[in-house]
Amino acid sequence: VILSQDELKKVAAYKAVEFVESGMVVGLGTGSTAKHAVDKIAELLHSGKLKNIVGIPTSKITHEQAVSLRIPLSDLNKHPIVDLAIDGADEVDPQMNLVKGRGGSLLREKMVEAATKKFIVIVDESKLVNYIGGSGLAMPVEIVPFCWEFTLKRLEMLFIEAGCVGKLRTAGGSGGEEPYVTDNGNYIIDLYFKKDMGDLKDASDAILRLAGVVEHGMFIDMATTVIVAGKLGVSVTNK
Ligand code: A5P
Repeated sequence: VILSQDELKKVAAYKAVEFVESGMVVGLGTGSTAKHAVDKIAELLHSGKLKNIVGIPTSKITHEQAVSLRIPLSDLNKHPIVDLAIDGADEVDPQMNLVKGRGGSLLREKMVEAATKKFIVIVDESKLVNYIGGSGLAMPVEIVPFCWEFTLKRLEMLFIEAGCVGKLRTAGGSGGEEPYVTDNGNYIIDLYFKKDMGDLKDASDAILRLAGVVEHGMFIDMATTVIVAGKLGVSVTNK
């Protein structure tokens, strides 16, 4: 049987939900992979196999999904310690560093996932890269709207040697002119690299030092478990 990409996402998501126990505070991720995990958690809750789960959504869209599935919800104010978070990623490197935020929810995801004891990343094998930026896809940075062109140029200048080009994310895909606005009222600059950006911690520090930047999509040293679903099966790797 050859599974489609969406079926692989489901395999990874369902495997992660096996780690959810009754009574846990669970970070609910965002994206097409995490969506399957949220569906499964709701199913187990309603069948009585899981009890007393409190969900902490990582975006407005996941909040809506969880409300529609009647998963009891809370937030980091009331539950500052999360037991387990399950979320997808856009890239996963061999050290379990991630790129997230193609779906635009990187800030809330990072806040919730920085507060969790265990962070399970669920991906199909297409997300595996040799180095961060290695997929040729964007590394997103959430910035304040004020003078965004200035911030875009400053970001490009940080990585001039890596051939970095930034683009303001627009709503409604490539044709749209209106800026995409995050759940927090901010904009997103997608950074593209021709070469690898060097030390990730240094790159992270440099980006975060720029006034105008709110957060970036590199999740360095945060994942505790990576579940990869591929054509040959599913693997669970712990840090
Ligand atoms: C949302 O902002 C992202 O960080 C997602 O977690 C990421 O884009 C993975 O999404 P898919 O599971 O849809 O690929």
